[in-house]
Formats: sequence, structure tokens, C-alpha cells
Amino acid sequence: MQNKFYLTEKLPPYIFAAIYKLKQEATARGVEIFDFGMGNPDSAPPEHVMDRLSELARDPKVFGYSVTGGIDILKKSLCDYYARRFGVELDYKSESLVTIGAKEGIASLATAISDDKSYICVPSPSYPIHTFAFVISKSNTHFVDAISGADFLAKFKKHVESASHKPQAVIVSFPCNPTTEIVGLDFYEELVSFCKKYKIYIISDIAYCELYFDEKDRPHSVLEVKGAKDLAIEFSSVSKSYSMAGCRVGFAVGNQNLIGALYKIKSYLDYGSFTPLQMVAAEALSEKSDEYLKNLRQLYKNRGEFFVNLFAKELNWKIEKPKASMFIWTKLPQQFSHFSSFDFCKKMIEETGVTMSPGSSFGQSGEGFVRFSLIHEEENVRRAAGELKKVF
Ligand SMILES: Cc1ncc(COP(=O)(O)O)c(C=O)c1O
Repeated sequence: MQNKFYLTEKLPPYIFAAIYKLKQEATARGVEIFDFGMGNPDSAPPEHVMDRLSELARDPKVFGYSVTGGIDILKKSLCDYYARRFGVELDYKSESLVTIGAKEGIASLATAISDDKSYICVPSPSYPIHTFAFVISKSNTHFVDAISGADFLAKFKKHVESASHKPQAVIVSFPCNPTTEIVGLDFYEELVSFCKKYKIYIISDIAYCELYFDEKDRPHSVLEVKGAKDLAIEFSSVSKSYSMAGCRVGFAVGNQNLIGALYKIKSYLDYGSFTPLQMVAAEALSEKSDEYLKNLRQLYKNRGEFFVNLFAKELNWKIEKPKASMFIWTKLPQQFSHFSSFDFCKKMIEETGVTMSPGSSFGQSGEGFVRFSLIHEEENVRRAAGELKKVF
């Protein structure tokens, strides 16, 4: 009997699984763990969301299958949100869809549109599913190594102009996980006009669009560009903006053709997330959460500043302040610059219990960097810095 499978052999070991194992081994040795690895929000969701969920969970009628592509209440609330937040008008029936988180949505879209002749342009570094959704669906990927949006655009354009075979789609994701980079509307305007010329679909992921620290840096949607619906689909979710990552509710909006393809695949694969979770996601997207979002932004902003100042003072580790997201992205400290990012993270877990994500887990051009998630209170960050100081 076959015990090796084509696809699982092709996929590299998930680096986060390796980090998890190192963490478990350190815990077993009695090392206290300070986990800055996964971007799993530690804040409570909005109060009105939790109140509504406890009411809904007592209704025996809500435990049946939900519906593929999401309940109408949620799709309408999503479209209202897009109109309010980005000034984008959407038809909830044909231009919006609910997914089981943005991650599942992107993976299902890849399944829907891939074939062995086409390929996708993916930024590197980037959130791993941007690449592996297409590896899993046996499509091909071309990496565009870039940190800033401007650099990405220049390299992507150069590739397309010189390629005899044009990509089927391009992925963009700002605020970026892991780099925390943001882009302005001009980035999307140029991208849309270029992709229109070469008939390339745009897949945008704005999972961190509500986590920005200054009004002038407020993230945009690609759909704000006139005519973008002709070629763009955009994913988002309640995971990071409303600290509801475990609810597994995400969204896709935009191009009807892509939404239709995604719907078709999903109708074979799933019946949607638990209905009460979709109902409270609709609540989360409403204006009732405005104050919550304001406070959450302030929280991550304060945490970012505290982290950067503390690491500079205690460890002489100079890090740039993030403008958005819930991460710190930085080069390895000078004295460890000869380490690979994975070996540095391994050493830190084993010797200090401080866990971070190696830059290489986000693509080859993330090598030499690490990512910290801002998911701890100041006291823990101070103690983690104290542990790092012992080996620095
Ligand atoms: C850029 C990006 N997109 C999507 C996701 C996953 O979002 P969801 O929880 O909605 O699947 C993440 C999670 O870390 C992410 O960083």
C-alpha cells in the first residue's frame, strides 16, 4: 500500500509546526514560554458580539447546516460595510460571498481557478496560503521578491512585460503580513490599469485593513478603483479586526466571475460556518463596532511603540515602528546576523522560551528577518526582553 502521497510529499514541512514542536520540548524541560509566534489575537471580541452569540446559541433551530456562500444577513452587512468604509457599492447576491475565514476562501478560489497551464504571481515574503493555495491546487507560482509596494509593482510589471506566457492572476496583500507595509490608493490604481491591459486577475487580501495607527495610513480596498470589479476579488475577515479568529468567518467580494467560481467549488465542499457565528459576524461589521475598532487600533499602536522602545533600550535591537497590522517585522539582531532566521528562532526558544516566527516561513526573501505578534501585555514583553538579554 502506498504510504507516500504526491501532494503531501511536495509540500515542505509547515515551519510553524516545527516551531510548535520546539516550544513543546522547551516546555517539557521547564522553560517558560513567551509566545510571539502566531498572529492569534488575545483581545476579547466586541461586547455586543459576545452578548448576541450567547443569545443565539440557545436557539435549537440554529444547529442545522448553514448555507454555502453565507447567509443573506451577513452578505448585506458586508456590503453595507464596504459602502461605509470604502465607498464601494456591491450587489450582495452576485458580488459577495462568505467563506470559512479568508484562508479557506483563498484556498478554495485557487482550487476553482487553477489549471496546470496557468500560473500566479505571488509576493515574497507573504502569508503562506498565498503560495500554498496554488501549490496544493497544482497551479504554478512565480515569486516577486519585494518588501515595499512600489518595489513589488516595478518587479511585477517587469516580469509580465518580458514574459511570453502571462500570469492568470496576481496576489496583493496590504497591510502586509509579515512586513507590515502599507500602500496608498495610487498603488491599486496603477495595478488595476496594468492588469487590465494584460488581462490578469487581481486577488487582494486585506485581513488587516482595520488595524492602522494613523488616519493618513488608513488602508484602501482595490475595489475603490473605478472598474476594478472587472478583474479583482478581495478577501477579508473578522479574525483580526474584531479578534474573532476562532469563529472562522471570512469574506470575498468583487468580480462576479470569480465569486461565481468560488461559490461553485464551495457548494461541493462546505455548508458554511455555524449560522450564529455568521449572524454575529454581521453584527461585528456594523457601526456598533466603531468604538471597539478605535480602541483596538490604539492597543496595537501602543504595544508596537512599547515593544520597539523596549527592545532598543534593553537589547540595542533597533526596529522600525509598524504603521499597521499586529506585527513587528525586523532583521535579526546584528550579533546573530550569521544565523538563518529558523536557527535564530530555534536558539531563542531553546535558551529563552521567547518564540517568534522565522522570516523564511513567509518565503525565501523573508530570510534574515523575524516576526513578532503583538499579543502580549507590557509586563510579559518586559519579561521576554529580560530573558533575551541573558543570551544577547
Ligand atoms: C494576510 C492574511 N490573510 C488571511 C489570514 C487568515 O485569515 P482567516 O483567519 O480569516 O482565515 C491571515 C492570518 O494570519 C493573514 O495574515
